[in-house]
Amino acid sequence: MHTHRDRRFPYVELKDVWIKFGDFVAARDVNITIQGGEFFSFLGPSGCGKTTLLRAVSGFLEPSEGVVNIGGQNMAGIGPNKRPTALIFQNLALFPLMAVWENIAFALEVRGVGKAGRRKKADELLELIALPDQGDKMVHELSGGQKQRVAIARALAAEPEVLLLDEPLSALDLKLRQHMRTELRAIQQRVGITCRTTWP
Ligand SMILES: Nc1ncnc2c1ncn2[C@@H]1O[C@H](COP(=O)(O)OP(=O)(O)OP(=O)(O)O)[C@@H](O)[C@H]1O
Ligand SMILES: [Mg+2]
Repeated sequence: MHTHRDRRFPYVELKDVWIKFGDFVAARDVNITIQGGEFFSFLGPSGCGKTTLLRAVSGFLEPSEGVVNIGGQNMAGIGPNKRPTALIFQNLALFPLMAVWENIAFALEVRGVGKAGRRKKADELLELIALPDQGDKMVHELSGGQKQRVAIARALAAEPEVLLLDEPLSALDLKLRQHMRTELRAIQQRVGITCRTTWP
């Protein structure tokens, strides 16, 4: 298995992928290769199949035909929680009754990490998304762009090898969108650097 940090190898591959809903073809013979470390975007009008492809990569949907490979492994029959992916949904879906830090650490809670460990990781990620000391706020006390960043931190907490973002910037005004685009790229590079330094 190639690692996602190795830029020489394709990390996510879609080969001859078709996705059908009954008679309706949502994805037609898609062939895409994404290298390790690459920042890759699907662009297209509403309804063209962007979300559908992300769901196929993350395992929420099996292609009708064709193959999804991650790290050289065929993902057929492997569910979303067994894949090295994290998908940030189009509608964000932060938990409104949890504090910001608890939202971020949710994946760790599911894995049975204790409260102190969860808080520590959440604080590190809050630092990363440039929201230090905001962990005790409730979700409704954040701006749109801050919520967006919390959703990203929550996905990163699971330490995914592939981070999938479904129009993470669509809810933002133009200025904030441009800012977040730069910030997302920076976060990706920062996380990449962290991974590399801790890699044996
Ligand atoms: N579960 C489903 N059952 C039937 N049709 C579906 C289903 N999910 C998606 N579709 C259809 O597949 C097409 C692609 O949908 P998808 O959600 O991938 O679009 P999108 O490119 O993400 O659009 P948007 O930019 O509006 O989010 C649409 O025509 C949609 O109606
Ligand atoms: Mg969509």
